Amino acid sequence: MKKLKQIYEGKAKILYETESPELLIQYFKDDATAFNAKKKGTISQKGVMNNKISAKIFEFLQAQGIPTHFEKLLSEREMLVKRVAIVPVEVIIRNKAAGSLSRLLDLPEGKKLACPILEFCYKEDRLGDPMITEYHIRALELATDEEIKTISQYAIKVNELMSRFFLKLNLELIDFKLEFGRYQGKIILADEISPDTCRLWEVGTGKKLDKDRFRQDLGNIEEAYQEVLSRVTK
Ligand code: TMP
Ligand code: ASP
Repeated sequence: MKKLKQIYEGKAKILYETESPELLIQYFKDDATAFNAKKKGTISQKGVMNNKISAKIFEFLQAQGIPTHFEKLLSEREMLVKRVAIVPVEVIIRNKAAGSLSRLLDLPEGKKLACPILEFCYKEDRLGDPMITEYHIRALELATDEEIKTISQYAIKVNELMSRFFLKLNLELIDFKLEFGRYQGKIILADEISPDTCRLWEVGTGKKLDKDRFRQDLGNIEEAYQEVLSRVTK
């Protein structure tokens, strides 16, 4: 499958058209940003690792009945994906307090939550992806009520599936972000699922094996991503 016209470049990925109007090539870069791109850097080999980790997780979720945009791996940094229209709403699920939730509500990092929290953010870099509610989504017509329901149900199911998946690898899924797209009239999971978009803590030690190592300057970033990759592909 040949790369044709570049149609999108984001902070971590580039999308290219292919000979098929239904399919795109998703290319993973090493660029890393945090705090709405106020902090910038690169993580050596991140694109390669996130491509492979995402592929594994999409394959797992697909096999468990979650429709995803993933078709197949093409190369070290490229995967073939279905061409979707991204719903401009990011979905975050949290099992323990960390990151922006800890800051928002002054909760200690790692505090257990009585039940998972589902948050929506408006996908708009210019505004720093602000948190919104279902009412904003409806009022701004970002998605229909039926789509919000489907997206929420998929996100909750993905949390159950991925929490179990990672726990078997001795990793605790603290929180994660998902993006969905419209494809042939249906909602499917899109974007990527990687240590850029999930918080993963090693069970027992609590060691952070995700992008917080970059956000918080904890060092050994590449090693952390490599550790996740080797557990996921083992
Ligand atoms: P947060 O605590 O910074 O809001 O992040 C929650 C989860 O969402 C965390 O696993 C990282 C992920 N995330 C992204 O994938 N992209 C983003 O732009 C942000 C802010 C968070
Ligand atoms: N990727 C986001 C940004 O650049 C935020 C993050 O992951 O912390 O702003």
